[in-house]
Amino acid sequence: MSQTENKQGQVETTGHVWDGDLREYNNPLPRWWLWAFYVTIVFSVVYWILYPAWPYGDSYTKGINTVEYTVEGEDGEEKTVSEHWNTRALFTRDMQSSPSALAQEEWVGKVKDMSFEEIEQDPDTLQFAMSMGNYTFGDYCAACHGAGGQGKIGLFPNLADNAWLYGNSYETIVDKINNGIQGNMPAQNVAEDKIDDLAKYVLSLSGEAEISGEAASRGKQAFASCAGCHGAEGKGNEAMGAPNLADAIWGVADVPGCGDDVACKVDEIKHVVNNGIQREMPAFGDRLTETQARMLAIYVRQMGGN
Ligand code: HEC
Ligand code: HEC
Repeated sequence: MSQTENKQGQVETTGHVWDGDLREYNNPLPRWWLWAFYVTIVFSVVYWILYPAWPYGDSYTKGINTVEYTVEGEDGEEKTVSEHWNTRALFTRDMQSSPSALAQEEWVGKVKDMSFEEIEQDPDTLQFAMSMGNYTFGDYCAACHGAGGQGKIGLFPNLADNAWLYGNSYETIVDKINNGIQGNMPAQNVAEDKIDDLAKYVLSLSGEAEISGEAASRGKQAFASCAGCHGAEGKGNEAMGAPNLADAIWGVADVPGCGDDVACKVDEIKHVVNNGIQREMPAFGDRLTETQARMLAIYVRQMGGN
């Protein structure tokens, strides 16, 4: 350490004296220390220019350094945004570039580009779409259709059986998810003296009740007003969302809840005929990406046993 000496060869002091003999040496700062000090000043100036630093008003200097990450635009296309450096943007970028995020992006790309038939043939992509679909189903659909898609009779259709109001083509399911559904059977005006035979006839289509002779022909005759939607044999019409009445699967009339009680079953059918059915599923098109809707359709279709 160098010391400044005066003419008498003594170490120079600042000239202050305390307590009669206590003096302060006037040694210069060590060179290495001074340089380190200058470096910190230069560093801080560079830092102020690059990063958020000084507050002013209700804002702050943002710095010229930026972070880039991708977001999904309104049109579903990915675009890159550039923001001034901040930890949230940094976190977003790191999440997107992590190995698992990149792997996921690759899979999502496959689901987006492959046809449904190709996905069905590719076990790994199918597996990925199913697990993402399952996840999205929990977020958006389970509230009505139930966690396992079992639905609630009269309110929400069971998606886990293989009976479909509108059919189970992937395209249809995607369309319903995106655009929602207005389920509607208008109340039917059936004469009081015919409705019991009609209800029994409908139940006989699936073996839920027996009907024969004149009663059967009266019931069949009355069914003519239903055939326009449900088909002459009651097998349903997917284009109209009119269910198959001959498959012993019930989504609205709680026939299974009646056990073996035929009168109770008849009442359930009469109730539907007299009141009709109005129920609605909201549209999800603006809440889901195209790929999410595809993955949901894959999940929902496989859930139904396909
Ligand atoms: C607010 C309740 C509600 C939510 C949430 C809901 N649905 Fe529905 N969904 C319904 C109703 C009600 C119907 C029956 C419409 C009808 O009567 O035609 C239906 C019908 C369907 C159908 C047609 C079933 C068939 O048999 O053809 C599919 C497929 C479906 N929903 C899938 C979904 C998916 C996937 C989601 C999540 C994105 C979802 N739903 C969310 C209420 C809901
Ligand atoms: C205008 C078309 C239309 C006509 C006419 C019509 N239905 Fe329907 N029916 C529907 C539709 C659509 C549904 C399903 C509604 C839904 O799930 O939202 C339905 C549902 C039902 C169901 C409930 C099935 C279940 O799974 O629980 C019964 C029962 C039924 N119809 C019986 C009849 C009978 C009997 C007649 C004649 C008296 C009739 N319908 C006439 C369209 C029609």
